[in-house]
Amino acid sequence: MTRRVTKAVFPVAGMGTRFLPATKSVPKEIMTLVDRPLIQYAIDEARAAGITEFIFVTARGKSALEDYFDLAPDLEAKLEASGKTELLDILQSTNMDSGAIAYIRQQKAMGLGHAVWCARRLIGDEPFAVILPDDVIAAETPCLQQMVDAYEGVGGCMVAAMEVPPEKASAYGVLDIEEDHGSLVRARGMVEKPAKGSAPSNLAVIGRYILSPSVMETLDEKKLGAGGEIQLTDAIAAEISAGRGVHGLRFRGQRFDCGSKSGFLQATVAFGLARPDLRDEFSRYLDDVYAMRKAAE
Ligand code: UTP
Repeated sequence: MTRRVTKAVFPVAGMGTRFLPATKSVPKEIMTLVDRPLIQYAIDEARAAGITEFIFVTARGKSALEDYFDLAPDLEAKLEASGKTELLDILQSTNMDSGAIAYIRQQKAMGLGHAVWCARRLIGDEPFAVILPDDVIAAETPCLQQMVDAYEGVGGCMVAAMEVPPEKASAYGVLDIEEDHGSLVRARGMVEKPAKGSAPSNLAVIGRYILSPSVMETLDEKKLGAGGEIQLTDAIAAEISAGRGVHGLRFRGQRFDCGSKSGFLQATVAFGLARPDLRDEFSRYLDDVYAMRKAAE
């Protein structure tokens, strides 16, 4: 029997340089996709998967993120007094239970593995999820829920995986596949940002993980990996070397890399078109843009 996963780590201490100058004063995770900050999508996905403890690994300049999760009693009272119940419901749906969120500082951006390691004392000896909020996933069943369901059958560590074109593999952590069972694959290795042409497969790891607490012991060693950073991928690969199972789940859904400008724009279009209140006007606009581009060719 696997233990239930109730804790999630959100590493949000990165500097978000790809979004400069915006990220000079706005944390990347507060940037809005339609009308909700990226972090809200991540929190909603975690909640849907049964997570009750939310651990943010933050850094200097991220106070807007902490403020976002404070209650807004004045705003609530104003909306209530003016009968704006729909907006009040939206606002209240973002409220978190007292004590459900913990913030830890990563004093120096030493890599994703190091950010996760910063949460070790709050994780203790339980399996835990890791969610990178800049990977936004549109899915009928939220991605982490799919992973929790699959994890119950296999335990160990689980990563969300998706096929990428071979020329893009060097931008990701990539799985070396031992057994391929369709949606679930068992890994025999994992490589972070493999050199071009040397990726062991096209199956890339994206920002959702369920990890065994033993990963923290490897991260304790603070070994530097690709890019001179402490890599989470290396700590997960060490689980395989130690004889513990690591699986990749080919999740059902579409992932948007909102850590990149192009991915963020694509997500904006997809999430805008998925919104019943915006769909008609927005799709008419996109049709017009497309027609004008065609006419100009
Ligand atoms: P990225 O590689 O996207 O880095 O980190 P970044 O700093 O956020 O963005 P760019 O590349 O400068 O534009 C992936 C995830 O890991 C977290 C980031 O916050 C992001 O969620 N991270 C990365 C940390 O928390 N600490 C680190 O030291 C590195």
